[in-house]
Amino acid sequence: MPVNRVLNGTIWKDTDGNPIHAHGGGFLKKDGYFYWFGENRTEGKLVSCYRSKDLVSWEFCNHVVTRNTHPELSRANAERPKVTYNEKTGRYVMWLHWENGIDYSEARCAVLVCDTVDGDYSYLRSFRPKGHMSRDCTLFKDDDGTAYFVSAARENADLHVYRLSDDYLDIASLEKVLWPGQKREAPAIVKRGDYYFLITSGCTGWEPNQGKYAYSASITGEWSDLFDIGSPTTFDTQPTYILTIQGSETTSYIYVGDRWDPSNYFNSSYVFLPLSFDTETSMSLDWASSITIDVQTGLMEAESEKSGLWRLRMGLRYLSAKGVESAGATYVYGARLSCADQDQLWVVERVSGDIIRIRHHVSGKYIEPEDSSSQEGTRIILSGKLDHARQEWRVIPAAEGHVKLQNVHTGLALKLERARERGQADLLIQAPLSSSPGGPWDVNSVLLAEVYR
Ligand code: GAL
Repeated sequence: MPVNRVLNGTIWKDTDGNPIHAHGGGFLKKDGYFYWFGENRTEGKLVSCYRSKDLVSWEFCNHVVTRNTHPELSRANAERPKVTYNEKTGRYVMWLHWENGIDYSEARCAVLVCDTVDGDYSYLRSFRPKGHMSRDCTLFKDDDGTAYFVSAARENADLHVYRLSDDYLDIASLEKVLWPGQKREAPAIVKRGDYYFLITSGCTGWEPNQGKYAYSASITGEWSDLFDIGSPTTFDTQPTYILTIQGSETTSYIYVGDRWDPSNYFNSSYVFLPLSFDTETSMSLDWASSITIDVQTGLMEAESEKSGLWRLRMGLRYLSAKGVESAGATYVYGARLSCADQDQLWVVERVSGDIIRIRHHVSGKYIEPEDSSSQEGTRIILSGKLDHARQEWRVIPAAEGHVKLQNVHTGLALKLERARERGQADLLIQAPLSSSPGGPWDVNSVLLAEVYR
C-alpha cells in the first residue's frame, strides 16, 4: 500500500478533478473504504458522498441528499450530516442540522435513511429532540451498538447527549446536559481505550476560535472540564469529526476540521491533523502542513512548515490594509476573515524584549499613528519603514491569549473603532490603554494569530 500525503488547507479535488464538497462532514468505514459525507451547497445539492481507500484519493459516489429529496428540503439549510450503520435493521441512518434556509431560528435535527451506503437517502422528518433546540450536532455509535446524538441546545448554551432508539431513527432519551452555559458547538467524539473524548469549538459562527476537549469513562456519565487544544484559532479550523485508523501496527486518530472561509464559503477547505495522546486522558493537537497516512499500518507522519505570517484579529475582525500606493494615507481597518485576502497578512518583527513592529506583508509598510500624532482617536496608517519609536508597539498580555499593543512613542494603545454607519469599515485608531483584562471581546485586545497553511 503506498503512503499518501494530505495537503492541509488546500482545495481538495476528487478523482474527476472536481472540488470536494463535503463540509461539516462525517465518515463511515465499509469494505475497505472510508465514506465521507458532508455539506454541498452548490446548486440543488445538500449532502454529497465520496469514498477513498487511502484518505487522499477521493472518488465521488453520489449526491445522497438533494433539494428534490423531499419538499421540506427544497429551501432548507442542511448542516453537519453524519451517517451510521444500524446492524439490526441493516440500514444507513443520517442525522443532520435542519434550518429553514432563511435563518437559524428553527434549530431542528432531521433524520434520513437508506438501504445502501451511498444511495439516495429518504427523508423521514425534522424535529426538535424532546422539544429542545438543536443546532451543531454529531452522531456517535458505541462499542455495544448504542448510538448517541449530540447537539447544541438552548441557543447553543448547552450540549445535549441523546440516546437513540434501537433503529437509530428517533431519540430515546436525553441522557446528559454537558457544560451548561459554556456555549460549545461543533462536537466530535471518539473512543480510545477506556475513555471517550469530545472536541468542540466555541460559538463564533464561521470564524475560528479556541478548540477544547474533555474526556469521560462513560458517555452518559461525568465528563471532565474542558481543556484547550491546538492554537487560539485551532489552526484556523473548526472540528467536525475524529477519524480512527486501526492499522496493523498502531491505531491513529485524525482530527478532521473545516477551514471555513467566512468571505467565500466555496473557498472553505479541510484539514486532517494527527491527534496525540500523552496519557490515557489527555490529548493534544499540533499543526501539520501535510501528513502521510499508511492506512494499513496505521502509521502517520506529519510535516510542519511555518508561514512566518500572522493575522491580527480584534473581536471577530481581521486587520487589513490595501497595500497599494495612493495619494492619500493607507488606513488600517477591520474586515471579515478571508482566507484568500493577502491584505490581511502581517509580519510581526521583534525589536527587542516585548517591543514589536508590525509589517504589512504585501506592501512591506509598517503601522503607525497618522502624522506621528499623540492625540487620542488618531487613525493608524501604513507607512514606509523609518525605524523610529512610533512604529514600535509594546506587547501587553491580556486574557485568553490576547494582547494589547501600546505605542512606544504615544503611550496609546490600538483600538478598533466600530463603524458608526452600516457598510462602513471599523477603523483602527489609538486610544488610552484600558485597565480591563482584555480578551476576545475587548476593543483593545488583539489576537496575534499565526497563519497556518
Ligand atoms: C458555525 C457552525 C456551522 C454553521 C455556522 C453558521 O458556528 O458550526 O456549522 O452553522 O456557524 O454561521
